[in-house]
Amino acid sequence: MVNHKVNHKTIELINSLKGKEKIKILFVCLGNICRSPAAQGVMEALVAERGVANRFEIDSAGIGGWHVGDLPDKRMRVHASRRGLELTHRARQVRPYDFGEFDMVVAMDDNNVEELLDRARTPEDERKIVRMTDFARHHAGAESVPDPYYEGAEGFELVLDLLEDSCSGLLDALT
Ligand code: 4NP
Repeated sequence: MVNHKVNHKTIELINSLKGKEKIKILFVCLGNICRSPAAQGVMEALVAERGVANRFEIDSAGIGGWHVGDLPDKRMRVHASRRGLELTHRARQVRPYDFGEFDMVVAMDDNNVEELLDRARTPEDERKIVRMTDFARHHAGAESVPDPYYEGAEGFELVLDLLEDSCSGLLDALT
């Protein structure tokens, strides 16, 4: 079950993936040091918890290349670790090839969506782009996972709350 914000293109994409032996998901944000590596960590923990880790391949990447090779932001790692998540991803930039590699490219906000649409090579690539919060159920009104980089602790907590909600909605939709 997906919520009312999910458009028919996203529902078609989800339905086309349901029977697939392995589903490859790429989470994308601006810098790949706060939101998308946290999304990756949340989703990896969820699939492990539900015993379906072997059906998923999960990665993350950034629109920009400023932090390539870096661990996630220290603040993101601290807040995630309080929820039992260890974030060890090393930042990398999105590449056009990713659209061929992954089944779904999950953006954190509408700027990410626009940047991804610019990088998509074909209409098929474009169809793989979805918005993280479209799968949120408890935060049903959320339009984005807001960039926490210039925020305080509550910004990082909000990111994790939105990601736990949205990733659980996404996984339920896919399984
Ligand atoms: P993220 O946060 O997109 O959630 O990783 C950001 C991290 C760094 C920058 C922007 C956003 N930056 O401009 O360096």
